[in-house]
Amino acid sequence: MQRKLDLADIQGNIVRPYGRYGFPVTRHIFYNIGDAAAGRTFVEKLRHEVTTSERWRDVDARPGSHAPERPKVAINVGFTFRGLMALGLPTRTLGGLPTEFIDGMARRWSLLGDTGSSSPNSWDPIWRGTGSDKEVHVWVALNAPALPDGSPTPDLDARTQWVDQIAAKTGGVTRLSGNKGPNPEWQESSAIMRELPDGTRVPTAKEHFGYTDGISDPAFAGQYEPAEEADEVKGGGKFAVNSKTWEPLATGEFLLGHPSEAQELPATTAPWSFMRNGTFMVWRKLHQNIGSFEAYIDDQAEQFMRVGGVSSIDAARETLKAKIVGRWSSGIPLAVAPTYDEARKLEAEWEDVLAIQLKGAKRTKAELARQLAYELMLTDFRYISDVPGARCPMSAHTRRANPRDAQDPHFGLAKAPPPGSDLTNRRRILRRGAPYGDTTRRDNDSEHGVIFMVICSNLFGQFEFLQQQWVQYGSAFNAGNDTDPLIGGHGPNAKYVIPAGPANPDGPYICANLPQFIETRGGDYFFLPSLTALREIAQGSVDPT
Ligand code: HEM
Repeated sequence: MQRKLDLADIQGNIVRPYGRYGFPVTRHIFYNIGDAAAGRTFVEKLRHEVTTSERWRDVDARPGSHAPERPKVAINVGFTFRGLMALGLPTRTLGGLPTEFIDGMARRWSLLGDTGSSSPNSWDPIWRGTGSDKEVHVWVALNAPALPDGSPTPDLDARTQWVDQIAAKTGGVTRLSGNKGPNPEWQESSAIMRELPDGTRVPTAKEHFGYTDGISDPAFAGQYEPAEEADEVKGGGKFAVNSKTWEPLATGEFLLGHPSEAQELPATTAPWSFMRNGTFMVWRKLHQNIGSFEAYIDDQAEQFMRVGGVSSIDAARETLKAKIVGRWSSGIPLAVAPTYDEARKLEAEWEDVLAIQLKGAKRTKAELARQLAYELMLTDFRYISDVPGARCPMSAHTRRANPRDAQDPHFGLAKAPPPGSDLTNRRRILRRGAPYGDTTRRDNDSEHGVIFMVICSNLFGQFEFLQQQWVQYGSAFNAGNDTDPLIGGHGPNAKYVIPAGPANPDGPYICANLPQFIETRGGDYFFLPSLTALREIAQGSVDPT
């Protein structure tokens, strides 16, 4: 039976990746609450404008339903633990919150692998503020569409001014400065734009290393309308061994107050009404060392071409990149196309779909059907036909981050029942981030990377588990001490082993001396309250008794 959620009570960024809904630009603004009453007034003014998860007319609502229009700017809000304290929440409610949320991201540095150039003392100034008047308490995100020249619509500036004004009027809520980048007053993230022959600029799904991102995302019960759900769960949901079908993940993995994959309500504090339909968000600024990444790929490609059985330097470069992430730059998974030639062939077969994606044009019914078939090819796969990782290495970024069926205890055992995804179903994360910064300079020092945002109901069991056990350790993937080849901490002599496969049949290829490709530049954990909880905060009526 289709699960129904109270979408009007749930913040919109939980259900929707806004980039796919016509909002390629996000402005992240951070505030400090100096006075609890002022903070509550700020929340009271803001909450009426917060974008919910309701379906939008002419977008995803059922025809004829009384759905609201898509907003000009989608607004969402979250609070750090210190922010909830500054708002004067009852001690009993504060004390029952999860310990990792109470700690905040900086204090979890060791578990998250934020050492060396990623350590909190090298983060952007806004994340290093000391003293209660410098702490980040509130995150306000303003998500806007783009004009044909790629810049955000003027509504974004208008909304920024409005939020600033309501903060200033309270006399106790201050916007925090200290974001590194063009404007220290806020952090902007945006889809990387591409210029078309007619001069218009359209959003792409690319990140700075050139990969296509934002393809695979979990699908949970109640997130989609039934017709959409049937497709979204393929690859996005959980694989049920008995029925051999994909099903939506339990709502409680991503929303508090709903049963999780363990058939339990995720641990929360009191009162229930305050936590229900809320969730947690990881906000993490990840710098990308583009110079090191491209130089390393160029350097290894020479050698890989000699020993790896590929015919050209381009093929070697592209194959190495694909082996690191688990997908070709176009997004096609290695699990579907394990060699350069197969990937090129598929890309040619789907050229029409890829071209339309770039044009951003309205699609005909036939074009939409082609698009859907393409998207299913990108997500609807498992690893059972590739136990040794000959196609997609076990340690590749996407296979680590979502091993699908590959963590099942029966995986790869002869005469065992087919593997399911039970052990992975509790480790899924909704990714809601986007690139930031300079797209033209291919060096290490310019400001560019990803504003990585994760939504999950259990920060410790989902995001932190992934980051610690699957990104920074290798044992679950028979990779010893090797960390994730793309985003892991690469200390001295870090390496990545590409098992023998169609691209290198003579034996494994070892990528030696991996440089550091990603560095953390700041962030924190935020609670994203429901609309009910925002009202309780604003009224000062959170009552744990
Ligand atoms: C700058 C940093 C990062 C870059 C450039 C990056 C890049 C990518 C790319 C290109 C994909 C494939 C596209 C897709 O499946 O949507 C991907 C997938 C994914 N990444 Fe990352 N990533 C980064 C950071 C992270 C972090 C920190 C985590 C978690 C701790 C993570 C978790 C995932 C997950 C869960 C998937 C989906 C895998 C699947 O479902 O098959 N990524 N990433």
